Amino acid sequence: MRISHLTPDGQEAYSHEVPQFGLGVFLMSEEGECRNSVLHALKVGYTHIDTARVYGNEDEVGKAVKESGVDRDSLFITTKLRRGHATGYDEVLEHCQKSLELLDMDYIDLYLVHAPPEDPEHRSPVWKGMEYCLEQGWVKAIGVSNYGAAHIEAMKEYATYMPCVNQVEFNPWLQRPDIKKATEAAGARLMAYSPLARGQKVDDAGLAEIAERLGCTPAQVAIKFCYDEGCITIPKSSNPSRITENIQSLDVDISSEMDAIRALECNYVSGWDPTSEP
Ligand SMILES: NC(=O)c1ccc[n+]([C@@H]2O[C@H](COP(=O)([O-])OP(=O)(O)OC[C@H]3O[C@@H](n4cnc5c(N)ncnc54)[C@H](OP(=O)(O)O)[C@@H]3O)[C@@H](O)[C@H]2O)c1
Repeated sequence: MRISHLTPDGQEAYSHEVPQFGLGVFLMSEEGECRNSVLHALKVGYTHIDTARVYGNEDEVGKAVKESGVDRDSLFITTKLRRGHATGYDEVLEHCQKSLELLDMDYIDLYLVHAPPEDPEHRSPVWKGMEYCLEQGWVKAIGVSNYGAAHIEAMKEYATYMPCVNQVEFNPWLQRPDIKKATEAAGARLMAYSPLARGQKVDDAGLAEIAERLGCTPAQVAIKFCYDEGCITIPKSSNPSRITENIQSLDVDISSEMDAIRALECNYVSGWDPTSEP
C-alpha cells in the first residue's frame, strides 16, 4: 500500500510502500518475548513490525531483525515518539536518534507522534521536528497516532507535510467513521491498532457466529475486517500459533458477512482514547 504526505499545494511528497499487515509488539515486556515473537512472525511471512519507545522493546525488534537474516530493506519498521517526549523540536530530533540507536538501524520506515502532545503549544514544533527527521532521511515517512478529526484539521495551519498515517483504535466494535473520513481527507491512511480490542472481544458471541458461518476463527474475522476496510492492520500476539493464525486471516474471504460485522459497532474503547482531547 502506498503512503505519502500531502503538501499545502496538493502535491504528494515522500511516498513510501507499507505492507498493509504487520505485528504489533505492545505488552511484550518479558525479556526475549518480543524477540521471539518477531522472529516467528518474520519466519511465517510478516514484513512489518509496529513498536514504540514506550513499549521498551525497540532493541529487541532490532536484534530479532538482524538474527532473522532477512534483508532490512525488505522489512518495514514503525516506531513512535513517546507522548512525554513530545515537548519540542529539539526533543523530537534527540528521541528519533535514540530510537535509531536502540533499533540499531540506519532508518525508520514510519515514525509516529504517539498521541497529540498534551500541551497544544507543543504540537506545531513537534511536527516541525518530525518533518526535519523526514527531510534528513532518518525516517522514510511520518505520521500521527490517536489524533481526532480536530487535531488533524489544526495541522493544516502548521504542517508542510501532512501525516501519511493516523494510527487509532479501530475494529468491528469501534469503526470511527468521522476519524477515518478526516484522516483520508488529509491524504493519510488509517492504521488500525487493537484490531481484537486488546483480546477483550475475541469471545464476542456475535463474532463467533460470523466466524462459524465463514469457517474461520473469530480473531481472523476481526483482523480481516480492519484490513478490508482499507486500514493498515497490526494485531499483537506473543503466541506462535496465533501469530500464524492472524496472518492467515488475509486468505479469508469475509465479503458475504461485511454487513453483519459492521453491525457489531458499539463504540467500545478497549484502552485509552486521546482522540477527543482538546
Ligand atoms: N498507538 C497506540 O496508542 C496503540 C495503542 C494500542 C496498541 N497499539 C499497537 O497495536 C498493536 C495491537 O493492539 P493491541 O496489542 O492493543 O491489541 P490486539 O492486537 O487487539 O489484541 C492483542 C490481544 O489479543 C490476543 N490475541 C492475539 N491473537 C489472538 C488470536 N488469534 N486469538 C485469540 N486471542 C488473540 C493477544 O494475546 P496473545 O499475545 O497471548 O496471543 C493479546 O492479549 C499493539 O501491539 C501496538 O503495536 C498502538
